[in-house]
Amino acid sequence: MLRNRSFLTLRDFSQAEIRFLLDTAKDFKQNRDLYRKDAPLRGKSLIMIFQKRSTRTRVTAELAMADLGGKSIFLGQDDIHLGVNETIKDTAMVLGRMASGILARVYEHKDVEILAKYTGIPVINALSDTYHPLQCLADLFTIEIHFGTFEGIKVAWIGDGNNVCHSLMIGCAKMGLTMHIATPIGYEPSEDILHYCKKLNHGEIYVSHNPREVIKDADVVVTDTFVSMGQEAQRKEKLKHFKDFQVNSDLTSSAKSDYIFMHCLPRHPEEVTDEVFYGPHSVVFEEAENRLYTTAAVLKNLL
Ligand code: CP
Ligand code: NVA
Repeated sequence: MLRNRSFLTLRDFSQAEIRFLLDTAKDFKQNRDLYRKDAPLRGKSLIMIFQKRSTRTRVTAELAMADLGGKSIFLGQDDIHLGVNETIKDTAMVLGRMASGILARVYEHKDVEILAKYTGIPVINALSDTYHPLQCLADLFTIEIHFGTFEGIKVAWIGDGNNVCHSLMIGCAKMGLTMHIATPIGYEPSEDILHYCKKLNHGEIYVSHNPREVIKDADVVVTDTFVSMGQEAQRKEKLKHFKDFQVNSDLTSSAKSDYIFMHCLPRHPEEVTDEVFYGPHSVVFEEAENRLYTTAAVLKNLL
């Protein structure tokens, strides 16, 4: 059912399909050598287009393609005509005749939609300004491994209500987790995505401007960089608005005693103190490692 589908946002995937991707990721983690031997993507190729920097997404996608027996081609901002000397539509139509899939990190979400519309091969969103579905899959995977269930789990998001938050909202709503969100005024998640998640009615979702209220009794505490890629010019202003949103041990003292701390990385001290980031509750490096398994699951099933 997942074959030849694009992976632009988890909105397009049912609870059962997300469940299947998480189960494939678990299987891949346990039997990585078998996947390497079977090489299910032998003869397949993935074009990786990055308009922004990346460590985890790029490395995990390249390694996953290699493990699955396929080939990947990395194209950085200066390596490809896309959107500069050639329309996205034309690039999409060319690549669709050559490769098995495209993975793209872009600024505007509509750019991955245009790629998907014209290319005829699956397009995987590797982060847009609106969504980061690959990250959400790894986050759900990490939560489930840690607690053994999604049932009764409360996620507290403290930070910016943009791409990573949007995807986690959708993931939590689809899989039945409760998510409470605290953002500074003016940085709330999109109304449309909030409305969509509320309508799903699987998990409770709540938005506030008060981190202390949101973190109370949380099982999972999550934040993200306060200054996303492309927002560098707003850095000074954003840091001022986010000054009461740093995750520190004073704030986390109201979370559950066995809470876990997550961050998609890259991390900066303004959003979380060293004490929490490197502390006993932090699972950030396991979360980063899990990107490999969940990305492999997406590539294997879609390509
Ligand atoms: N979390 C994440 O997507 O990291 P990269 O920017 O390093 O890919
Ligand atoms: N919100 C961050 C996520 C980076 C993985 C950004 O868009 O830069």
